[in-house]
Amino acid sequence: MKKLQHKPIVGCMRWGVWGENFTTSQYEQIINQCLAIGLDIFDHADIYGHYTTEADFGHALKGNASLRTKIKIITKCGINMLTPKRPHHAIKSYDTSAAHITKSVEQSLQNFHTDYIDTLLIHRPDILMHVEEIAATITTLKTAGKIKSFGVCNFTTSQVALLHKYIPIEHHQVEISLTNLNAFDNGVLDQCQLENIEAQSWSPMGNGIFTEKTEQHTRILAEADSLSKAYECSVNQILLAFLYAHPSRIVPVIGTTKFERIQEAKKAMEIELKREDFYKLWSASTRKEVA
Ligand SMILES: NC(=O)c1ccc[n+]([C@@H]2O[C@H](COP(=O)([O-])OP(=O)(O)OC[C@H]3O[C@@H](n4cnc5c(N)ncnc54)[C@H](OP(=O)(O)O)[C@@H]3O)[C@@H](O)[C@H]2O)c1
Repeated sequence: MKKLQHKPIVGCMRWGVWGENFTTSQYEQIINQCLAIGLDIFDHADIYGHYTTEADFGHALKGNASLRTKIKIITKCGINMLTPKRPHHAIKSYDTSAAHITKSVEQSLQNFHTDYIDTLLIHRPDILMHVEEIAATITTLKTAGKIKSFGVCNFTTSQVALLHKYIPIEHHQVEISLTNLNAFDNGVLDQCQLENIEAQSWSPMGNGIFTEKTEQHTRILAEADSLSKAYECSVNQILLAFLYAHPSRIVPVIGTTKFERIQEAKKAMEIELKREDFYKLWSASTRKEVA
C-alpha cells in the first residue's frame, strides 16, 4: 500500500560558513525559490556554522514578517561545541538542563528575529539528561508559545521511550540513507510508526557518497545509476526514492546548497520504487542478498 509522502525538509547546515557562506540576498533568493515549489520547512541547529548560520538566515527574515509567516523553522539545541564563539566551553559536551535549553531557545528566537520556533529538537542524547526536567522545560516553552512542536535527534529507542513517557515526542531526526541502514532494523522506524512520531532522515543522500569513492559508495552509485535510467530520473532521486519506499513515511532533510537539486529532490516524492529495486539498492549497500 502506497501512502502519501511528506515533502522534503530543506537543511541549512551547509548554507553558512560550513558550506556556501550565502549572502543575505542569496538566503532570500533560495528561501523564496523553495517556497515557490512548496517547500517551506527549513532545518537548523544552534551550532551550525559555529553558532552563526541561524543569525545569517535570520538576516533574511529581519523586518520581513510576511516571509516569517510563510516558513517553518526547525532548530536544535543540546550540543556545546568547542569554538572561539563559545570560549567558556572547555570540552565538547551535551547539555539538556532547563537553563541550557531555555537560553538556547531565547538565542535562536533572537537570531531568527521571531517570537516562535516551529520545532525544537534535542540534538543528541545527553547521557546526563533528566527527562522530567526536559519535559517541564518543553511544556513551559510550549505554553509560552515559544515553540510549537518538539522532538529529538539520534536517540536510541529506549531513550525515546523514556522521554516520551513524560512529554510527547513528535519528531525523531536520525541519519538514514543507503550508507546508514541502522534505523531500518534497530527499531527506530518501528517506534516512529508505533508512537506516531515523524521520522526525519539527515544526510539522506548518503554520507560522503559523492566525495569519497569507497567500494560501498561505488556499488550504491552504480546500482542507483542503472535504476535512474529505468525510472528516467536522476541518481539523487533514486537515493531519495529508496527512503520514500519505506512505510514509516520518512521525511528527508536534504542538505544541498543548489536550488536545482532541491527541486529535483522534491520530485523524488513521485517515484514509486518497486520492491525488488529497493532490495537491489539494499544489497548494493550491504554487498549481500537478504537472508
Ligand atoms: N540532526 C542531526 O544530527 C543532523 C546531522 C547532520 C545534518 N543534519 C541536517 O540534515 C541536513 C542534510 O544533511 P547533509 O547535507 O549531510 O545531506 P545530503 O542531502 O545527504 O548531502 C548534501 C551534500 O551532498 C552534496 N551532493 C548532493 N548531490 C550531489 C551530487 N549529485 N554530486 C555531488 N555532490 C552532491 C551536496 O553538495 P551541493 O551543495 O553542491 O549540492 C551537499 O554537500 C543538514 O543540512 C542538516 O539540516 C542533521
